[in-house]
Amino acid sequence: MALRRAEFARRRKELMDLMGDNSIAIVSSSEVKIRNRDVDFPYRQDSDFYYLTGFCEPESVAVFAPGREHGEFIIFCRERDPAKETWDGYRSGPEGACKDFNANDAFPITDIDDILPGLIEGRQRVYSAMGSNAGFDRRLMEWVNVIRAQSRNGAQPPEEFVALDHLLHEMRLFKSAAEIKVMAEAAEISAAAHIRAMQHCQAGQFEYQLEAEINHHFAMNGARESAYSAIVGSGKNACTLHYIENNCELKDGDLVLIDAGCEYQYYASDITRTFPVSGKFTAPQKAIYELVLKSQLAAIASIKPGSTWNRSHEVTVEVITAGLVKLGLLTGEVEDRIKDESYKKFYMHRAGHWLGMDVHDVGDYKVEGEWRVLEAGMVMTVEPGIYIPQDCMDVAKQWRGIGVRIEDDVCVTKTGHKVLSADVPKSVKDIERLMRPNRKVKAKSASKAKARSKTKVKASAKAKTKAAS
Ligand code: GLY
Ligand code: MN
Ligand code: MN
Repeated sequence: MALRRAEFARRRKELMDLMGDNSIAIVSSSEVKIRNRDVDFPYRQDSDFYYLTGFCEPESVAVFAPGREHGEFIIFCRERDPAKETWDGYRSGPEGACKDFNANDAFPITDIDDILPGLIEGRQRVYSAMGSNAGFDRRLMEWVNVIRAQSRNGAQPPEEFVALDHLLHEMRLFKSAAEIKVMAEAAEISAAAHIRAMQHCQAGQFEYQLEAEINHHFAMNGARESAYSAIVGSGKNACTLHYIENNCELKDGDLVLIDAGCEYQYYASDITRTFPVSGKFTAPQKAIYELVLKSQLAAIASIKPGSTWNRSHEVTVEVITAGLVKLGLLTGEVEDRIKDESYKKFYMHRAGHWLGMDVHDVGDYKVEGEWRVLEAGMVMTVEPGIYIPQDCMDVAKQWRGIGVRIEDDVCVTKTGHKVLSADVPKSVKDIERLMRPNRKVKAKSASKAKARSKTKVKASAKAKTKAAS
């Protein structure tokens, strides 16, 4: 379900109430990024811009001027242009920005240099996303300098420049009921995609083919984009935290870690599951997996209003360190190993992050130097992991090359929490049960990809021989 126009209007009102009179906020759309020569990456609107406008077009600037007589919400955007629209598609134009996006006033983006200084003039404070786009910061100063140049004629340039992030990102941290509904849908789609990957997983396939199963499910369920590049790491690749090559063959006996989430209606989901390619965990894999799961469940259980942001991380550290000592992967007293942080050799990242329109969403983690207290409406991930590199020679061989992460999306509610991504199985028993029916059939697509990759290898071996001769 898409967000209603009233939701965007409510956000603009809240922002302008916080800004107060005598101020103005100026927000730029994100830029089109070139992929190669004449080809662009698919366009994605800047999250702050979209949050306040719902407007998805590039080359746009939104202005919020509380108390302005001719309207407080102004959009500058590309004009309609039949010739250009034949090539690149529909443009709203200033008329569409007013009609379809509730702008009170809208102008062609080509007129911004003439109009914007007049909107800024006489306002004491300017809010903008300072430091995130050097080109836009420079243009803002040019607009202000136009006013300064007129000061002897009575023009009043602004006196304060304030980072908009403080107000806007605090608003974005607290999700409304409508936002949580959309995020729950995003998580639901991603959860089913992970189930599909487990069901289709076969030794002999390539990691990118599991990624294709995930992407297929996203698109077939209304989520065209991923919220981030999917990680599909089998065997030792699971120990590379940001592994996105996804080009290795799945081997019987290995685990595969999939970290993938769709973006739905501009909201991210972010789920990780780790499961055996064969459908059955080995004893060492099971021991590590169950330790990560125990820490994740304990961390999720700690989430409720009044707890602190860091508490869930601390819980994962406590459980994982105790487990690593028990398994003999760390030695000595648990307390000492927590204190000297030697657990970081196997668990080197934090247990989560805020989740929202950006996968690593905005919002402060500390307030006045203290870890933030959790409140209803915050959404976060819980994603502990253990990673034992293949070349870790000071641990027994059976542990080497095992990488496990389990990640869910958790919303803080008035009374505790709700796991938005709860549909994907994560106990050893449930994963093995889900994967069992498919084990015997060798996927046709897997052997096709394998044949292709062999041809490639042969071809490159030939090329090498040629080059050497
Ligand atoms: N997928 C990115 C993360 O888990 O933080
Ligand atoms: Mn993730
Ligand atoms: Mn994450």
